[in-house]
Amino acid sequence: MDFIPVNEPVLNGNEKKYLNACIDTGWISSEGPFVTEFEQKMSKTVHRKYGIAVSNGTAALEVAVQALGISEGDEVIMPSFTIISCAMAVTKVGAVPVLVDSDFYTWNMNVDEIETRITSRTKAIMIVHLYGLPVEVDKILELAKKYQLKLIEDAAEMHGQTYNGKPCGSFGDISTFSFYPNKHITTGEGGMVVTDDESLAERCRLLRNLCFKKNIRYVHEEISSNFRFTNLQAAVGLAQLERLEEFIIRKRQMGKYYTEQLRDIQDLILPIEHTNYAVNIYWVFGVVLGEEVQADNRLVQKLLAEEGIGTRTFFWCMHEQPVYQKQKLFINESYPNAEYLARKGFYIPSGLALTKEQMERVVIKLKKVMAQIR
Ligand SMILES: Cc1ncc(COP(=O)(O)O)c(C=O)c1O
Repeated sequence: MDFIPVNEPVLNGNEKKYLNACIDTGWISSEGPFVTEFEQKMSKTVHRKYGIAVSNGTAALEVAVQALGISEGDEVIMPSFTIISCAMAVTKVGAVPVLVDSDFYTWNMNVDEIETRITSRTKAIMIVHLYGLPVEVDKILELAKKYQLKLIEDAAEMHGQTYNGKPCGSFGDISTFSFYPNKHITTGEGGMVVTDDESLAERCRLLRNLCFKKNIRYVHEEISSNFRFTNLQAAVGLAQLERLEEFIIRKRQMGKYYTEQLRDIQDLILPIEHTNYAVNIYWVFGVVLGEEVQADNRLVQKLLAEEGIGTRTFFWCMHEQPVYQKQKLFINESYPNAEYLARKGFYIPSGLALTKEQMERVVIKLKKVMAQIR
């Protein structure tokens, strides 16, 4: 029986046509015309004035943090339960991530803890929307205003999602996206920074491209990176963006099907279908083992793999990262909900190419494995 991968993208729209145009015209580098078109269209979908496409979502966060001038000794508040890209963007510039725990049910950062973590060194809050539901943005906007903090919104997983009707990617000073193939729209690898601030946008463009001095090529006053995004990536991105609404509908259908089929499994916590500010877009369909289950996620994932089902573990907390422990960061810190999610959460196949038959098989096998470990 075929193995069901955890994710497979759908690339059967205009991707080939636009890619052929790149090859026919010879425009395959970051100088090609699709890059600007993709930046304009993507930023428009999230109601931002400027979009700066970069090589991936991690680069987007690095560019965002540096563009805001966050540097040595500054503190940035973020969830412990997230991808390391968020913390790395901060530690790379010598600043310090200051962590908060997660909400047990939305899996997003616990907004009520943020104020207690603000100090005189706090420079910014990094919002990270996870797994399909946005963070409660309003509360954070209020705090940012009250304490005059910068706001970075990591919307890597939130293409097409809204918070109280406003697009994710439109909040705060600067927002970032990833276009990795498990995202609702993909460019293979890719990312984007979006903002309404012209000077920030200009700064991001410089940081993406080695900080070339304006009008004097090969003369540099700052250290930066090459985070450029190619015309080939933009070709795929444009074709994907044309189908964003369709993809959101598809993901929600998948979420509904899995929820209906899995809701009776004892000791399995499913994603919340909606909150009072958003309807889940199921970046991926995550599940969390209940407290009665002795096994951790890795054991269940191993059993599912033996049944031909691909899964991926949830993120590992920032305060438990060996690399940061070595640097003596987050000593004796504990975030119980985040630790629980990291040990008990994983996601099941939920890529856009998944068929009904494959989903049916996932449900059967997950039920079997859950009965086995009980
Ligand atoms: C919330 C979040 N931020 C940042 C990233 C990093 O994006 P990339 O893999 O494109 O570097 C990811 C990737 O999955 C993510 O989920």
